[in-house]
Amino acid sequence: MKIIMLGAPGAGKGTQAKMIAEKYSIPHISTGDIFRANIKNGTELGKKAKTFIDAGQLVPDELVVDLVIDRFKEDDCKNGYVLDGFPRTIPQAEALDNALKAIGDKVDFAIDVEVPDENIVRRMGGRRACVGCGATYHVVYNPTKEEGTCDTCGGELIVRDDDKPETVLSRLEVYHNQTQPLIDYYKEQGILKSVDGTVDMKDVFKAIVEILGA
Ligand code: AP5
Ligand code: MG
Ligand code: ZN
Repeated sequence: MKIIMLGAPGAGKGTQAKMIAEKYSIPHISTGDIFRANIKNGTELGKKAKTFIDAGQLVPDELVVDLVIDRFKEDDCKNGYVLDGFPRTIPQAEALDNALKAIGDKVDFAIDVEVPDENIVRRMGGRRACVGCGATYHVVYNPTKEEGTCDTCGGELIVRDDDKPETVLSRLEVYHNQTQPLIDYYKEQGILKSVDGTVDMKDVFKAIVEILGA
């Protein structure tokens, strides 16, 4: 099963993708996590990506597309994957379609997690991310058992650099201009499914499982 998560920054794509990956035993491929790992490790890619990410802008398509398509060649992608944060522009979506078409394959579902902008700003302020495994928490909506420590791996929790209020606003603007058009793109393909992302994360997940099938 090949799934794309769509939705504004902070809509809960990562939160839901992680649960989907566990339930359906497919890898969770997050381009944001890949970039953050590269920044942390000081790689060339990380250096290039950082200036865009810190400004709340998208990393150029040419730095993203091959990275993701190469990732599909790994063994764990045999039965599919859940893509979180990719594609984010029409050219990225077309590149993905073409790469899959070349091997006689296609995306099965594009799931749009719908959350209005007002809720987003509130969520980002309380988000905490694990430096070890990328797990995401929220100080109010999804707290860890022990403050500052990841439940899954014991890693340290941090506030993401791009969660500053002014950067969140540019990310939202970029989302509306460059990523939202993908909703129509996948609607036209007949694979778009929308879920209400404002309810409790467990209920969002239930709605997704209804779409994907138990
Ligand atoms: P990326 O890491 O993908 O960030 P994003 O799209 O801005 O999305 P987020 O990760 O911020 O939010 P999310 O939807 O995953 O929400 P989460 O589950 O954490 O990308 C970062 C940057 O990298 C981009 O800005 C760009 O520069 C670059 N980049 C990445 N991919 C790229 C690409 N393909 N092309 C170009 N550039 C790219 O949830 C948010 C918070 O809300 C958490 O605290 C969570 O606990 C809480 N929460 C979740 N669900 C609920 C709920 N139902 N109720 C209450 N709280 C909830
Ligand atoms: Mg995320
Ligand atoms: Zn962790």
